Amino acid sequence: TMTELSTIILDRIRDVPDYPKPGVMFKDITPLLADPIAMAAVVDALAGLEQVDKIVGIEARGFILAAPVAYRAAAGFVPVRKKGKLPAETLEESYDLEYGSATIEVHRDAFTPGERVLIVDDVLATGGTAKATVELVRRAGAEVVGIAVLMELAFLKGRERLGGVGLHSLVIV
Ligand code: PRP
Repeated sequence: TMTELSTIILDRIRDVPDYPKPGVMFKDITPLLADPIAMAAVVDALAGLEQVDKIVGIEARGFILAAPVAYRAAAGFVPVRKKGKLPAETLEESYDLEYGSATIEVHRDAFTPGERVLIVDDVLATGGTAKATVELVRRAGAEVVGIAVLMELAFLKGRERLGGVGLHSLVIV
């Protein structure tokens, strides 16, 4: 059940205080990744959410989940990467961070027009990364069917930034 899955996930996410800087509680998913039963349950849950053509993964921790989800869902995998990492022609989006900004990219030809896409990442925090990814996928000509994350940090209100795109969170903390 969903309650059991939540417990499986929460028991395997480690809170690391003051990382990467003082006052931040880092959500470390490596204990979950290291547990084959838990990992399979998470991948199966994410793969069963939406019928899509492509799964988009967000560098870097998003890749770890999105690639097996794409395999399980019999969908293609498309990477959204930090600026400067993709070799061919790209589209880019910038978004604000607490200090400064970040830029992510996708290959301009990553999708066939109208393809259905699910965006997968590990954590939704402020929602800036997910929102920028939605814009990228749309500009590349595909349809964003939803966003799926392992964990949503509700106190940061990222959900409110997503502008009506459906958000699936396996756990909300
Ligand atoms: C983390 C996380 C999400 C994003 C969430 O990635 O994996 O992609 O931050 O934050 P937001 O909702 O406030 O945008 P990070 O940028 O730390 O990169 P990494 O996966 O390469 O460590």
